[in-house]
Amino acid sequence: VSSDKAAGKGSGERFSSLGFIMSAIGSAIGLGNLWKFPYITGLYGGAAFVLIFIVCLLIVGMPVLLAEMAIGRAGRGNASSSFRNLASSGRWGFFGFIGVFGSFMITSFYSVIAGWTLHYALNSFTGKLYNGTDYNVQFETFTSGYSPLGWQFLILGLSAWVIARGVSGGIEKFNKVLIPALAVVLLILMGRAMTLPGAGEGIDFFLMPDFSKLTGESVLVALGQAFFSMSVGMGVMITYGSYVQKEQSLGRATVAVTGGNLLYAIIAGLIVFPTTFSFGLEPAQGPGLVFVVLPAAFSAMPLGAAFGGLFFVLLAIAAFTSILSLLEVPVAFAMDRWKWSRVKATAWTAAVCFIVGVPSALSVGGVLSGITIFEKNIFDSLDFVTSNVLLPVGGLVVTLFIGYKSKRAMEEAGLNGPLLKIWVFLLRVIIPPMIVLIFLYSIGVI
Ligand code: PHE
Repeated sequence: VSSDKAAGKGSGERFSSLGFIMSAIGSAIGLGNLWKFPYITGLYGGAAFVLIFIVCLLIVGMPVLLAEMAIGRAGRGNASSSFRNLASSGRWGFFGFIGVFGSFMITSFYSVIAGWTLHYALNSFTGKLYNGTDYNVQFETFTSGYSPLGWQFLILGLSAWVIARGVSGGIEKFNKVLIPALAVVLLILMGRAMTLPGAGEGIDFFLMPDFSKLTGESVLVALGQAFFSMSVGMGVMITYGSYVQKEQSLGRATVAVTGGNLLYAIIAGLIVFPTTFSFGLEPAQGPGLVFVVLPAAFSAMPLGAAFGGLFFVLLAIAAFTSILSLLEVPVAFAMDRWKWSRVKATAWTAAVCFIVGVPSALSVGGVLSGITIFEKNIFDSLDFVTSNVLLPVGGLVVTLFIGYKSKRAMEEAGLNGPLLKIWVFLLRVIIPPMIVLIFLYSIGVI
């Protein structure tokens, strides 16, 4: 019996095969690659950290990605109902709902940073960013005001507009244009960065491993980053997977997405570190690396305003295509659950998401920065709970579901022979304890 007849997706929306690959890559490549990866690499030991990250991508990220796609295509429902369709039990549907909730919450604060990148792009192109004011001061002045709300609203509005047009008429159409465009901009910026005087030092820091710098902590951070950057654990790839045609190879899609994701992260590093080192700046700067350190470098290079503007446009595009995938999770859920039209589901989800995101936007130095939960502001608390609690829990649900519960979903992946054996072994034996470890570490138990 074709699973296309299963419940959900009455409208039968489908991706084309290229459209799916581009959209899944678009989801994976985001602020995680271009903003977070460089700065955590800077904090956790440079190239040695990069190597560990690659290992985590291969043995955790890749198998879980394939598992999510398979659950989506076999279940043909949203991030929650796909489980229910396959397990015929409401309990699994509840576990799946964690992803719906998680993606919604991630969108609410992820769109804040996406908004910042638009502001920085504009200010770089117009030259206002380089008016001599200290970059820390500029960053603090901007984030403590109200204008981030406007940018966040714009990003969410644009995303809603695309999503409302549907899977093939909106999501895949934009990804098919934006992802190649992203590659072109990345290559231009990489060429610029790597030909700066003294760039070699940055390349060494990024690509010459020094294992003495590795700690248990860096391994766990790499593992968490592998999850976040592959967009797994939040039902995103289940939702996208439910739109994939029966004939498409999920194994090949998994390899393409993992490869694309890694490539873009490496190129991001080859832009950020040579630029940072070439101007004698400090790489271990944390979250402010791209907003505070890089502008200093741009201001000192010929045509820096244009290169800086391009760099922030790059961040904005990458974030945008990730938001499309995140927002689609609750949208698909609302369409199935309440039988809403796509337009209605999108409008409501985006509007509520904006409102829920307001406290995050105002908590980074703004009027709400005084409110703290466990010594973290609202933004950091949400980031912490979603990335460190919901994401691993969601990943564990997917892993155990395929490993132990749904033979049907396991077969959907289309693997056989030794590859199937390795995949199932990883899902059953290796990945669950690794996820539990990241989880215990990130909540401070170990
Ligand atoms: N993978 C995206 C990034 O690297 C973020 C993301 C997380 C998107 C989870 C979807 C789901 O920025």
